[in-house]
Amino acid sequence: MIKKILGTIGKSVVSGGNFEIPAHDSPLFAKIDWEKLPRHVAVIMDGNGRWAKGQGMLRTAGHTAGVKTLKNILKTAIGLELDALTVYAFSTENWKRPHTEVEFLMNLFSEYLKKELQEMHEDNVQIHFIGRIDGLPESLQEQMREAEGLMKDNTGVKFNVAVNYGGQDEIVRGVQSIVRRVQAGELAVADIDEHIIESSLDTQGNLPVDLVIRTSGDQRLSNFLLWQAAYAEFWFTETNWPDFTPECFVDAMVDYAGRDRRFGGLTKPDKE
Ligand code: IPE
Ligand code: IPE
Ligand code: MG
Repeated sequence: MIKKILGTIGKSVVSGGNFEIPAHDSPLFAKIDWEKLPRHVAVIMDGNGRWAKGQGMLRTAGHTAGVKTLKNILKTAIGLELDALTVYAFSTENWKRPHTEVEFLMNLFSEYLKKELQEMHEDNVQIHFIGRIDGLPESLQEQMREAEGLMKDNTGVKFNVAVNYGGQDEIVRGVQSIVRRVQAGELAVADIDEHIIESSLDTQGNLPVDLVIRTSGDQRLSNFLLWQAAYAEFWFTETNWPDFTPECFVDAMVDYAGRDRRFGGLTKPDKE
């Protein structure tokens, strides 16, 4: 048994490339409380640059390594039967980076889609891109639309990839679409409520975010899912994204299971 556990851990840590969807009774999931899993997990995949620097490599090597991590975490999310996994791949602020790094990332997204498309489809994933997609290179937009179309009837994990995404930008676009509906006479101002705003966001159709994970030590949202994470739990780790393993993801699930989510109420109301 111990050998089996070590085997699983070793495989995911070392290879990163051929990690399979873990079965329900996999040793990886031994500590999982299936009744207390988050349904929607969001991940700020941070620390690729720091990881690369630590290895004496260029920042871009960190991004390449990060893609392998993403593949393993998606497989783990599928094994856990999460409803949705939303990952932050490129923010509206990341355009401030050197042109070479931005170009490298755009190519990497394109390569990732080319390489992983079929396997994600076979894994019953529903991919969806969130963010200001029309600001991305035309060929990448085309690939994204194709991927979404291919997987639109799948019923497994909703895999939302945030590219050129900013929570504030998303809210601005949502407000614009609501105002257009008001101007067209389709919606009354008095009918604008939380539900209308939620359904005008890129994540419409998803459950609220239960858990936000951020790797590499920084503890901030960096403009990610400002509306959707209103009542999310947060889990931070010092581990850089390329070193983040399925075991780390499971640690976050176990920690989440122990949280007391009160949503403004009381867990055990005192007797009056
Ligand atoms: C996250 O890693 C990936 C992207 C933002 C695209 P970083 O590139 O931010 O890595 P650090 O934070 O500089 O180490
Ligand atoms: C957030 O990371 C964006 C992504 C992970 C894509 P950043 O590295 O861009 O965030 P800051 O600059 O540390 O806030
Ligand atoms: Mg960073």
